[in-house]
Amino acid sequence: MTNDTILEPLPEDQWFIESQELRSLIATVREITANAAENRTQTLAKLEPYFQELLAQEQWLPEKFAQVNPESKMGGGIGQWLLYRAKDRSLSVFSLVIPPGSTTPVHDHLAWGLIGLYKGNQEETVYRRVDNGSAEGHAQLQITEVRSLQRGDIYRLLPPDGDIHAVKTTSESESVSIHLLGNDTGCIWRHQFIPESHSVKSFRSGYSNAPCKEEEEKYAQV
Ligand SMILES: [Fe+2]
Repeated sequence: MTNDTILEPLPEDQWFIESQELRSLIATVREITANAAENRTQTLAKLEPYFQELLAQEQWLPEKFAQVNPESKMGGGIGQWLLYRAKDRSLSVFSLVIPPGSTTPVHDHLAWGLIGLYKGNQEETVYRRVDNGSAEGHAQLQITEVRSLQRGDIYRLLPPDGDIHAVKTTSESESVSIHLLGNDTGCIWRHQFIPESHSVKSFRSGYSNAPCKEEEEKYAQV
């Protein structure tokens, strides 16, 4: 099972939308996370009000990045749109658009993060792993929480806490959540779980609008 993907650095930070609000949030994240001695719980607590501020604003997210994606690699028409990623792949921001009635697979993220709801309503089911991970392809999960989320609600990922979940749209129109995570989430190999059959497999979600390898990017730009 691949847990520690090593991704090649990019030539530079990549911005997929032009937004002063997002640029200002990333600058703040840089400042706050520069203090490596601080523990992540404190870091996330400091970041939360700034993230909340971004979520509360209208108009910064272009319509194109709030659309479902029928060709989704995650299935169910789910769009995962990259908005920003750091050249060292240590930070990314993306929107996740889930059509009404669709549910993500049960998955992990393998990084600290803040996730907030920008549009619609969701139900999140949070799991924790209760086996020791030693048997290949096998995973025993337990539900720790089921919560309803509305616009402006934020939750934290601090692996292993809160790192495994499935999210379902409960509103009549699609839901859009904004993810700020401490890795290049779409490009790393992580895990997809099937709790009913106690199974787990490697999973790379990709992004709807950006490739994972530099060669693919060069190709895409031709
Ligand atoms: Fe997730």
